[in-house]
Amino acid sequence: MTEKITVSLIKADVGSIAGHSRPHPKMMQVAGEHLVKAVLDGLLIDYYVTRCGDDMQLLMTHRNGENHKDVHKVAWNAFMAAAQEAKKMHLYAAGQDLLSDAFSGNVRGMGPGAAEMEFVERPTEPMLVFMADKCGPSAYSLPISRIFMDAFTTTGLVIDPRAHIGYDLEVVDVVDHKSVIMSSPAEMYDILALLGDTTRFAVKRVMHRDIGVAAVVSTEKLNMLAGKYVGKDDPVMLVRCQSGLPAVGEVLQPFAFPALVAGWMRGSHYGAWYPCAVADSDPTYHDGPPRVCSLGIQINNGRIQGAEAPGLKPGEHSPIDYFAGHEWDIVRNRAMEMSMYMRGHGPFMPGIVSPDELEYTTRPEVLKKLEPRMKPLE
Ligand code: F6R
Ligand code: MG
Ligand code: MG
Repeated sequence: MTEKITVSLIKADVGSIAGHSRPHPKMMQVAGEHLVKAVLDGLLIDYYVTRCGDDMQLLMTHRNGENHKDVHKVAWNAFMAAAQEAKKMHLYAAGQDLLSDAFSGNVRGMGPGAAEMEFVERPTEPMLVFMADKCGPSAYSLPISRIFMDAFTTTGLVIDPRAHIGYDLEVVDVVDHKSVIMSSPAEMYDILALLGDTTRFAVKRVMHRDIGVAAVVSTEKLNMLAGKYVGKDDPVMLVRCQSGLPAVGEVLQPFAFPALVAGWMRGSHYGAWYPCAVADSDPTYHDGPPRVCSLGIQINNGRIQGAEAPGLKPGEHSPIDYFAGHEWDIVRNRAMEMSMYMRGHGPFMPGIVSPDELEYTTRPEVLKKLEPRMKPLE
């Protein structure tokens, strides 16, 4: 098969129950109705509607390439319909990530986040779908560095002849809207010199020089998009796995370290990333802690294949929920300990993000009010 398949994962927070928790099932249902219609119309091959915390996730497969107007439009309309349901139920923050009333050709820049990859399907195509809540796209920089550049994580970089050549990474400057493609291992230290600044740089895409795209991350930054802080992006990532690319286990391993990520509570705190099942992704402690979910699927002639019973309709899938198991309890316990420790700082850095990154701030008003009382130091 030489035909190219596109996997598009488009997500948005369009309302949730009792604060920023999870979308209502009715919202998921109406979004699904839009996507099933797009399958019947021949635009999509398959789809799966899921969520991570308060973010609704539309996983879609098709043959139309990345940034396709009609695919983005169907996602936009699905989110609009879900937001309408949220409004009817007076749910919280209904429609919050839909920054415009009218669709203008591409969801990028309009609020939703998108990770999309186009590739020629291999004879067997395993994929991990990562979805995170209460954090920004640079949260994935540390795990990506370990998965694709660190031989102590991915032994395949050393012992698999197909993996030994390394990877190219597209690094995005989310503030200046620029990107650069860099090669690992040759430029590994330069790559890390950028990625270490998680306030500004993030990985957009990872490419294997023979196999093609290996990973892609949504890097829209809502605060920059709207010209002001309107919410974190709660990013998603797609990773192709196995047969020369990192094994599923190598991709999951870095998440055993509950790294501190920015974007928790009011988009303004650091918390430890908590790997969990989709069903366990409600933000239950201090609007968090920041969550990350990982779903395993196969792409089969463009269709999504999980562990579903035979004969189910498009959209009805049972992916492997990789962080559901008790093996991850030890990580979750550590993440909770670290998040509670960070909370101990209250409104002090490093419990909160730097002043430039705060999603909420009163500082300009406070400084203005105090101006007449400010005296030069002796
Ligand atoms: C939303 C989030 C929450 C909110 C917080 C305040 O994804 O992370 O922590 O920022 O609950 O929300 P508002 O301003 O809506 O009361
Ligand atoms: Mg939210
Ligand atoms: Mg969210």
